Amino acid sequence: MSRHSNIAVFTSGGDAPGMNAALRAVTRTAANYGMDVYGIYRGYEGLIENDFYSLSPRSVNHILQKGGTFLKSARSEEFKNVEIRKQAIENLKSRGITALIGIGGDGTFAGLKCISEESDISCIGIPGTIDNDIKGTQFTIGFDTACNTVMEAVDKIRDTALSHNRVFFIEVMGRDSGMIAEQAALASGALMALIPGTRVSVEDIKNKLERTAKKKKTSSIIIVSEGFETKTMDLVNEFSSAYPEYETKLTILGHIQRGGSPSRYDRNLASRMGYYAIEYLLEGKSGGMISTHNNEIGFVSFDDPKSINEDDLLKIIDTLST
Ligand code: F6P
Repeated sequence: MSRHSNIAVFTSGGDAPGMNAALRAVTRTAANYGMDVYGIYRGYEGLIENDFYSLSPRSVNHILQKGGTFLKSARSEEFKNVEIRKQAIENLKSRGITALIGIGGDGTFAGLKCISEESDISCIGIPGTIDNDIKGTQFTIGFDTACNTVMEAVDKIRDTALSHNRVFFIEVMGRDSGMIAEQAALASGALMALIPGTRVSVEDIKNKLERTAKKKKTSSIIIVSEGFETKTMDLVNEFSSAYPEYETKLTILGHIQRGGSPSRYDRNLASRMGYYAIEYLLEGKSGGMISTHNNEIGFVSFDDPKSINEDDLLKIIDTLST
C-alpha cells in the first residue's frame, strides 16, 4: 500500500503547450490509484498563498488539446526564501499531502529540490518548457510545438522573401538555449542559425550570402536565437549599415511561440510523463524529474542530470543551405 493518498500538482515558470495534457495525465493516473489530487494555482505563488483546488478526472476534461495551463503559472522570487518555503510546506501538510508534482523548468525543479530536502514530502518534476534547456532529458514538453510554430511562420515569411529578394532576420525564443533556432532553421531551410555560445560577425553573414548568391540563391532567412551574443536589433542595424545593398528585414516572433494547441508529439510526451510521474512516485522515487531519451521515459535525480549529446546541427544547416 502506497503512503500517498493525497498529492498536489502545479505548473510553474513560462507556460508551454502540453502542460494541460500533463496535468490531465497526472490527475487521472493518480485518481486511478484512488489518490485525492489537488491542483495549485499560479505555481509557487499559489502554494505560498494556499490557493489549492480539488481535481477529479472530470475536472481535466477537454484540456488535452489546449495550449497554456489551466492552473495558470507564475515565476516566484519569494520561494527562494526558506521561511516562505516553511509556510508552503505547512500548507501541503495541513491537507495531508505527501507528494508534490511540479511541471516546469529549472526554476521549478530548484524549488522542488528544496522541498524534498526540507521536508518528508516526495517531489517529482516534469520538464515543461519550450526552450528544451533541461539537462538530463532529450526533450521537454512544449518544445516540439514551439519549433513547429516557428517553422510555419518561417515558411510564410519565405513566400514574401522570395518575391522580393530580401534578407530576413527572424528572432526566436529559447532564453540561453539555441535549440529552437537550430531545429527551426533546419526544418525551414534557413541559411544560418545564430545561437548562444557561437561567434558570427556581420561580415561572416555577408560572406555566406555571397557564397550562396553565386549558386543563384535569391532569398535568405537567418534565424537568430534571442540569447545570441549580439541583440538581434543591433545585429540587423549593424548589418544594414555595413551592407546597404541588401534589403534587410527583421521579424521578432515573440510569444506566439508559447501558444497554440500542442503537437501530437507534445500531447503524447506530456501524457506519458504525467502517467510515469505517478508510477515512479508509487515506486518510492523523489527528488528528481521524469526524462525522455531515445523515446524511453526514465527518472533522473535533480543532483545528477547528465547532458545528452546532440548532432552538430549547425554544420548540417550550413551544408544544406548552399
Ligand atoms: O522560458 C520560456 C520563455 O518563453 C523563453 O523562451 C523566453 O525567454 C521567456 O520565457 C519569456 O518570458 P516572459 O513570458 O516572462 O516574457
